[in-house]
Amino acid sequence: MKTYSDLNTPERILMGPGPSMVSSRVLRAMAHPLLGHLDPKFIELMKEVQELLRYTFQTQNEMTLPISGTGSAGMEATVANLLEPGDSILIVVNGYFGERLCDMAGRYGATVHRLNKDWGTAATPEEVDAALKANPAKVVAVVHAETSTGAMTPLEGMAEVVHKHGALLLVDCVTSLGGIPLKIDDWGIDIAYSGTQKCLSCPPGLSPVTVGPRAREAFHQRKTKVANWYLDLTMLEAYWGDDRTYHHTAPISMNFALREALRLVHEEGLEARQQRHRENAQLLWDGLEELDLRLIVPKEYRLPTLTTVAIPEGVNDMEIRKRLLDEYNIEISGGLGIFKGKAWRIGLMGHTSRRENVSLLLSALSRLLAR
Ligand SMILES: Cc1ncc(COP(=O)(O)O)c(C=O)c1O
Repeated sequence: MKTYSDLNTPERILMGPGPSMVSSRVLRAMAHPLLGHLDPKFIELMKEVQELLRYTFQTQNEMTLPISGTGSAGMEATVANLLEPGDSILIVVNGYFGERLCDMAGRYGATVHRLNKDWGTAATPEEVDAALKANPAKVVAVVHAETSTGAMTPLEGMAEVVHKHGALLLVDCVTSLGGIPLKIDDWGIDIAYSGTQKCLSCPPGLSPVTVGPRAREAFHQRKTKVANWYLDLTMLEAYWGDDRTYHHTAPISMNFALREALRLVHEEGLEARQQRHRENAQLLWDGLEELDLRLIVPKEYRLPTLTTVAIPEGVNDMEIRKRLLDEYNIEISGGLGIFKGKAWRIGLMGHTSRRENVSLLLSALSRLLAR
């Protein structure tokens, strides 16, 4: 009979686009004895998770909660709750995740208008203004940090333009929350989602979402039921809000992990954390340029959390990544979509964003690329 050995996973240095490395404090939190999901102790914890999420999102939004599911579940929840068949949405498409938003919105019967930008660049509020003049929409969706390209779309001034046209601003914060400045309330963002496995440095499995007053109002104005039962945010709020009405069984241990990961964010402080991400990214960028590697995204849009590097002519993408993993225990990632085979993606998110990781990767790359 076949026997199965003990699980024995290597401790990788996770420098890809996510998941990022997880602090031992978060892993220990996951190992706590399980509670029932309506246990008063768990209910207390749910409240703390919500408070810490509000801090991290920089919002007062009551409806702020982690959806059970990965970042795509948050994406789908926001799309499904805002859109009814026949509604229009304008989506800024400057990478792979903008494309995914188009696919999802189309599946919920929305008319999708695209504002296409080259991969590695970002749209401006003026361009969004012009696109809305041409095609009015109920919702405008923007990916704050495009993990497929390493480009950041500046959001200051975006909501003013969107609101001027009577639309709502939906933001994907999967690779920005907890790593770079993100001010939900100050920037007027109506609804946003993220994931736990990037700059929050928690395993994948939950998707923090926050909903402001205008988006809530849009939920109330719906003529049809949300077409996705599991992701109906009004029902989820009854579970996460004061009523604690049973909806589904929350993944208990994942919420233990998220509480600890958010506690780490809170202890460090958002500004110090952002500064750490900026400094380590700068070290990485300087080191890569010293190795004569070309950074794809111009500095004005470049994300400190995710760097795309052009793979030099004649270098075998797969071979270098395999050797990094086998010989140095380091994971980086290849390109997605049109960057497949052309770029490497290097993540410096959350617990991965440390000087020693940058130094190790640079010295490994310098050896592997020496010709
Ligand atoms: C910007 C962005 N949006 C959405 C997602 C989807 O998240 P998940 O893979 O956790 O479902 C990702 C994942 O990498 C992402 O980077």
